[in-house]
Amino acid sequence: MPDAMDIFSTREAIEFSPGVYWIGAMDPSLRTFDIILKTANGTSYNAYLIRGSEGVAIVDTVKENFSEEFFRRLESVASYDEIKVIVLNHLEPDHSGALPQLMERAPHAQLYISQRATAMLKGLLNRSNDDFEYTTVVTNDLVSLGDRTLRFLHTPFLHWPDTQCTYLEEQQVLFSGDVFGCHFCDGRLFNDKVGDFRFSFDYYYAHIMRPFKQHVLNALDLIEPLALNIIAPTHGPILRDRPARYVKHYRELSTSSLSGEIGDNEKSLMIFYMSSYGNTARMAEAIFAGADEVEGARVSLFDLEGGEVDPFVDLIEGADALVFGSPTINGDAVKPVWDLLSSLVVINLKGKLGAAFGSYGWSGEAIAMIEDRMRGLKMRVPLSGVRVKLIPDDDELSQCRAYGRNIATILVGKRIENHVLDLADLA
Ligand SMILES: Cc1cc2nc3c(=O)[nH]c(=O)nc-3n(C[C@H](O)[C@H](O)[C@H](O)COP(=O)(O)O)c2cc1C
Ligand SMILES: [Fe+2]
Ligand SMILES: [Fe+2]
Repeated sequence: MPDAMDIFSTREAIEFSPGVYWIGAMDPSLRTFDIILKTANGTSYNAYLIRGSEGVAIVDTVKENFSEEFFRRLESVASYDEIKVIVLNHLEPDHSGALPQLMERAPHAQLYISQRATAMLKGLLNRSNDDFEYTTVVTNDLVSLGDRTLRFLHTPFLHWPDTQCTYLEEQQVLFSGDVFGCHFCDGRLFNDKVGDFRFSFDYYYAHIMRPFKQHVLNALDLIEPLALNIIAPTHGPILRDRPARYVKHYRELSTSSLSGEIGDNEKSLMIFYMSSYGNTARMAEAIFAGADEVEGARVSLFDLEGGEVDPFVDLIEGADALVFGSPTINGDAVKPVWDLLSSLVVINLKGKLGAAFGSYGWSGEAIAMIEDRMRGLKMRVPLSGVRVKLIPDDDELSQCRAYGRNIATILVGKRIENHVLDLADLA
């Protein structure tokens, strides 16, 4: 067996548990992944081979242009005739790229995928479902390789609808797909040998898993009871040294550290605004004062000029209602508002309450544009925003105050007086 330190100079499989091999590929020159992720030292596409007394299983493949490396490593420890089982934990092209060729080369193999993956086979591999024989599996389904058993865990939306994990019972190895993975390319392969990958691990979680926190928590409920000897993800180091730490870390990352800060009987409402001459700022203060009158609403007020996007994104994740204020400048809302709104893709906003307001000079498009964006982000926008022409007078400031009160009242689940329901409220 070649030394794991030497992975760039060998084309052979690396055995890391009896009969369990890494047969992946290294991609050290990659700097951007899926448009949204940066990596300073590339990535790896980890694929695995398991040899049982009655056949061989392959878990995941590699990106298509790395197929040759994958097949070379596979051939170093098994022949295609021996392959009985192919498991795809996730059909994204970085893992399914070599699948069509593998299916052709391995005539006795049966493909195991999740139910939701079937809808993606055609779109991703350009094959009709009839071209591939496959079996769909759910949590606790087993497949036997004689003296080795694979158990499936249904873990959807980590980070695509189709994702699942596969557990090798006898050796307690969890093939976790992208879960617990990171873009970190290091030929030393194992977490106790590679360089410091903590940043990459957290960064990967923040961009890939964070939007699906509730799904992560559901998956952890399945994973935590498992005895874990090794976690073998599809990117980055194989986690063989104290793997349970990473499971615990995922639990922490998925649970707000100060979750008790806003009381159980309170709802959090946040107002973010930007203002050049102070007009929108005055409206913001009036809305804040109105909302703060409502019992059960915990209200915060932030001037975007004094904030950084990332901490605001963290705050917004924990908020129940978001109110954005922007003047209209050249027919649009201002850039800091859009910057913040476009940074919210990493969190789940579905069902949060949204509202917008702002001062304008003559056309005032900003408010409706922000509301449209909020609806696009699957937020509820129950009231039309307040617009004030130039400097708000006392009457207009009282309207703002009433608006804040109304938003907060809806948030805490009470009816607002004299509120005429329009069809938009039912959306
Ligand atoms: C460069 C510039 C462009 C503007 N473009 C628009 C516009 O397209 N439509 C509009 O209704 N008002 C426009 N305005 C007017 C502002 O929306 C208005 O002055 C508003 O009261 C500013 O509010 P603020 O003090 O909260 O920034 C513009 C103002 C500036 C300075
Ligand atoms: Fe993926
Ligand atoms: Fe991936």
